[in-house]
Amino acid sequence: MSGTSWDPGAYLAFADHRARPFHDLLARVSVSAPRHVVDLGCGPGNLTALLGRRWPNARVTALDSSAEMVDAARERGVDAHRGDVATWTPTPDTDVVVSNAVLHWVPSHRELLPRWLAALPGGAELALQVPANFRSPSHVLARELAAERDLVLRDGTAVAEPAEYAALLAGVAAHVDVWETTYVQRLTGPDPVLEWIGSTTLRPVRDALDDAEYAAFRAELAPRLRAAYPAQPDGTTWFPFRRIFAVAHRR
Ligand SMILES: C[S@@+](CC[C@H](N)C(=O)[O-])C[C@H]1O[C@@H](n2cnc3c(N)ncnc32)[C@H](O)[C@@H]1O
Repeated sequence: MSGTSWDPGAYLAFADHRARPFHDLLARVSVSAPRHVVDLGCGPGNLTALLGRRWPNARVTALDSSAEMVDAARERGVDAHRGDVATWTPTPDTDVVVSNAVLHWVPSHRELLPRWLAALPGGAELALQVPANFRSPSHVLARELAAERDLVLRDGTAVAEPAEYAALLAGVAAHVDVWETTYVQRLTGPDPVLEWIGSTTLRPVRDALDDAEYAAFRAELAPRLRAAYPAQPDGTTWFPFRRIFAVAHRR
């Protein structure tokens, strides 16, 4: 199970931008009356709660490896449990599986996806979204600086390209819908790109360093990110972010 620590509050600082791909993903799910909906890697549960609103008659359950995230989700009333998606298997009544911004943390997900889809009942749908910006300046700069401390951050191999997801799922799917979107996000506040990646990408760095070392790491990374993503005259910062989506409909 992923041992990365999470800070639900910091993660939610960009809740609107992080919610947008979830809505775009859900818009392509067509199951009308699912019995059981599962959110794999639910995080703080704010988006899981939307699943209950979309399907009020479904049982909605959620899984996450982080105790902090599971607690935050439960406080929102989500039926969340601690567990590793890598060992999860669907119950026979699972008609919708959603995994939003999680599988880049799970190296075995290329094997898991066709296995999960095959284990779902006919007509069920599996919907996933993964960030695909590992070659963007934000991630390259963070990786370079982490490497100077002998820390390895994920690179572009953490996720597959869209055509690969389509091929992985097509064998067991009646149809597969795969696409990518680059959201040109407008962030506000000082060092917003550092704040963004601090709540996700940099969590393994945060875990590996003590407070003083992590503060020094951030202080070194901040000007590099400012140069790569300069603040505009109005104080806002453009932060383009590529994401890959797939919705597979079980035969
Ligand atoms: C970027 S957050 C996404 C949370 C939520 N799905 C959302 O869209 O807001 C990634 C989440 O995946 C969880 N996660 C990472 N690896 C996991 C694993 N192997 N099993 C279960 N959860 C995992 C983390 O604990 C974290 O809550």
